Order: sequence, then structure tokens, then C-alpha cells
Amino acid sequence: MSFDFKNLRPDNDSNSKDYEFTQAVIKGLSEERKRLPSWLIFDDRGSEIFEEIVGLENYHPAVCEFEIFYTHKQTLADIISDEALQIIDLGSGDARKTTVLLDQLVKNKLQIHYIPIDISAGAVRNLVTSLESKFGNTSLAVTGIASDYFQGLEAVLRKQFKRNFVFFLGSTIGNQDYPAAGKFLRRLSDSLNKGDYVMIGFDLMKNPKLLYRAYNDPGGVFQKFNLHLLDRINQQLGANFVKSNFVQEGHYSERSHAVESYIYSTKEQTVRIDALNREFHFGLWEGMQTEHSYKYTMPEIEALAQNNGFEIAEHLFDSKQFFVDSIWKVKG
Ligand SMILES: C[S@@+](CC[C@H](N)C(=O)[O-])C[C@H]1O[C@@H](n2cnc3c(N)ncnc32)[C@H](O)[C@@H]1O
Repeated sequence: MSFDFKNLRPDNDSNSKDYEFTQAVIKGLSEERKRLPSWLIFDDRGSEIFEEIVGLENYHPAVCEFEIFYTHKQTLADIISDEALQIIDLGSGDARKTTVLLDQLVKNKLQIHYIPIDISAGAVRNLVTSLESKFGNTSLAVTGIASDYFQGLEAVLRKQFKRNFVFFLGSTIGNQDYPAAGKFLRRLSDSLNKGDYVMIGFDLMKNPKLLYRAYNDPGGVFQKFNLHLLDRINQQLGANFVKSNFVQEGHYSERSHAVESYIYSTKEQTVRIDALNREFHFGLWEGMQTEHSYKYTMPEIEALAQNNGFEIAEHLFDSKQFFVDSIWKVKG
């Protein structure tokens, strides 16, 4: 079967990509309480560091979602075997969890077209290569797309008229607040056809001490991930951030219902950004928010589905009920 890669991303130095990135940096650094959105962290290197996070023993969202895939791969295969399907994996990263299912589908000899979509071209390219070496002579076809979520979806849905099953795993939905997640899901249901499936991975609210442990690993991988944002600003906008002048910490906030990660300035300092011709001052221990991971309750998840064009088909939990992969069908 075929294993293809398409890059729909603008070139690194294109105006539109620079514009989006630049505007987000100006806005975030100009606020009284500095705050940058976590999507800025994801380039090829950011996505690679996230793959290290997925391997951390205390990072329960990944541990639990792996368990769900191993335990329920046949349940998923049964849903999929009923229909001619293409599986679209939004923000696939290295798709380690999805690969567990693909293995099962191939064993069941199903003809599946798997379409990973990720903003990191490096992650998608590597994934297509590794899937080809694992599944090269099987019933699986793969088209990897490097693009933004909806740009990739549009390109896929325009061409094909098959039943779709869209995955949005890894608690990526939690990077947005609750109203923004609702808008994202409404746009998703509007893009799909009646009867299409989605499966969304939600991290459930739990003891904040466990949340603390998950986002503050002793080896400093989370710190490396968050500080990578400074490298990106240095590279893209000619800034002179010194990463060793910052440390990272994440904690659950009762106010936002999210784990919020901050990087803190370990000294009073001024950073210059050449491309903006501006300087930004950081006071001693001033914090800047760099990540947001919303923690859900089941009633919130059910309301998100029902209010945004879906009906719930099934909830797949891990044994501790820390995480749920919730399967929904697009309503007519
Ligand atoms: C939290 S990780 C999840 C990775 C994988 N699905 C998992 O469960 O381990 C989020 C992924 O989404 C990708 N991503 C972030 N923003 C994106 C966007 N706007 N469009 C497409 N992909 C995006 C990142 O590159 C990263 O691989």
C-alpha cells in the first residue's frame, strides 16, 4: 500500500507564519501578566521534546491513554470494521498510541487509510517512514500531512467521501480553555459528515498532588519543553533570551481548572527582540505563563459533545479513571 507525505506548511521564512508567531509574541509579552500560548512551543524540536514527555512514568495522561489503547483496541477495531474508514489523527506527534490500534487493524486485515496531521513536518515525516518500515506489506495505506489541524482536514475531506474517524488524543484539547474547546469542536463537527466518528482524549480532574507530580518531573523534561519557547523566539525574531535565567514550574489552578505552567525569571533582566525593535523587562521571579492543560469532569465532557453537534457513542476509561477517550458520532 502507499505511504505518502505532504507538506502544506508555509516555508519557515514565509510572511504568514512569521506574522502569526510575531503577533502572538508581541501580545503575550505586552500583557501586564505575561503569557504565551503553548502552540508556540511546537516546531520539530518542540514536538521531539513532547515525545520525551510521553515516556515519563509520572505523566499519567500518556500512561493512562496507552492503557486505554491496549485494553480497548478490539472495541475500537469492532467500530472501525463496520465501515470503510479513514482514520485522521489530529496532532499525531509520533502516534505511538495510535500505532497500537493500527497493529490490531492490520492483524484483522482491514483496509484502512491512516492520515496523521501535525504542524511539525519533522514529526509527520518520521512517522510515515517508521510506519512504512513496520506496515510496508500490509493492508494499511498512510498519507502524512504537515499542516495546521483544519487546513489538513479541509484538504483530506475535500478529496474523499469515506466515513471518517477523527482522533484528537493526548489531552491536546486541554491546551484550550473550555469555551475555546467548544468552538474547536463545533468547527470539527461542521467540517465532518453525519455519522462520522471522533475520539477525544480528555484528562480528568483528580488529586492536584498527582497533577503536580505529572507536570514537574525531576529530570527537567517539562522545563526543557517550556524553555524551548525562548529558543524559538530567539531563532525566529532575533531575541536574546538566556534560557539559564529562567526556571519552570506547573501547578493546578482552582480558578482556571487547568494545570498552568510558568517560567520564572531568576533575576531582574531586560530582553531585546531585534525583529520587533523592542525590549521587555522581567522582574526578579516574575512569572510568564507558557502552558495550560484543562482538567475535565464527565458532565463537562458530555455537555461539550451535546452542545457542539455530537452524540456520545462510548467512553473508554483507564483502570484508575484518570483519563477518558470519549467516542462521539456527528449528529445529523
Ligand atoms: C500534546 S501533543 C499530542 C501528541 C500525540 N497525539 C499524543 O497523544 O501523544 C500535541 C501535538 O499537536 C501538534 N500541534 C500543536 N498545534 C497544532 C496545530 N495548530 N495544528 C496541527 N498540529 C498541532 C504538536 O506538534 C504535537 O505533536
